[in-house]
Amino acid sequence: MALNASNIVLACAGLVCAIAGGLLFMAKPAKSQVPQQFWLSPSQPTQPSQKAPQTAPGEILASTCAGCHGQDGNSEGPATPSIAGISVPYFLRTMEQYRQGKRNSTIMRRVALGYNAAEIEAMAYYFASQKFIPVKQPFDPKRAERGAIYHKRYCEYCHRDGGARAGREGILAGQWVPYLRATLTDMVVGKREMPHSMKRWMERLVRIEGEDAVEDLMHYYASNTKGATQSLLP
Ligand code: HEC
Ligand code: HEC
Repeated sequence: MALNASNIVLACAGLVCAIAGGLLFMAKPAKSQVPQQFWLSPSQPTQPSQKAPQTAPGEILASTCAGCHGQDGNSEGPATPSIAGISVPYFLRTMEQYRQGKRNSTIMRRVALGYNAAEIEAMAYYFASQKFIPVKQPFDPKRAERGAIYHKRYCEYCHRDGGARAGREGILAGQWVPYLRATLTDMVVGKREMPHSMKRWMERLVRIEGEDAVEDLMHYYASNTKGATQSLLP
């Protein structure tokens, strides 16, 4: 479901997107009544398999990731993203993109190819249940202030809660900024697929506010260290 919904969001464009988005937005509050365990529990039916994975526990599998992504998925190196607390759908989609070579990587394609679907699913639940610890990074308060305005105008529609939401989009607030810059560059030059709707907003941002606006956003994400909020995606 999550992937289908995401596809629909990505496929809709322009005015249609704005209207459909408004409806989606209005529909969202109902979801917050679902208990948090609903999407964290491995016993719930999930994609891609409909049953609990027959494999080593996610925690054991994930220990091989710790060398780069840090204990529990909170990375200590600027080029390696923190993956603690990221949503299950985002994790699964990301690993699939790495496996298929659709997303640029230095190392992750090789890593992702080393696991089967059940193992990746087990790790997805493990990391989703870890606490995301925002990285403390230097930032310029003036630029962060401007970035906050740009975020609200151009990004918040999908990257909710000031970019802190662990939804289908990945966590931006408190993520390593050098990683965010690198992955945005990948998107701009076509080494990582950029959702069409996001592309439209990025182009609008640069056209109206100027190139510097992207860097202002980076300062904003560095400044927003309140921690991740969890989505209720299945
Ligand atoms: C040798 C270091 C290294 C190891 C080991 C490693 N990773 Fe990564 N990971 C990276 C780097 C660096 C990136 C950024 C993409 C790239 O350059 O490959 C990344 C990116 C990711 C992302 C994307 C995060 C986002 O916000 O989009 C996920 C998910 C991920 N890794 C999961 C894992 C899992 C699961 C494991 C263990 C099975 C693992 N990684 C092992 C270095 C590593
Ligand atoms: C219409 C929805 C939408 C809008 C608006 C949007 N994004 Fe995104 N963004 C996404 C989606 C979906 C993804 C995940 C794409 C994927 O991994 O395939 C994403 C991913 C990203 C990532 C990579 C996250 C990671 O952990 O690797 C960055 C960085 C990002 N967006 C920045 C921005 C910025 C900055 C803005 C505002 C200028 C913005 N986005 C506006 C939908 C959107």
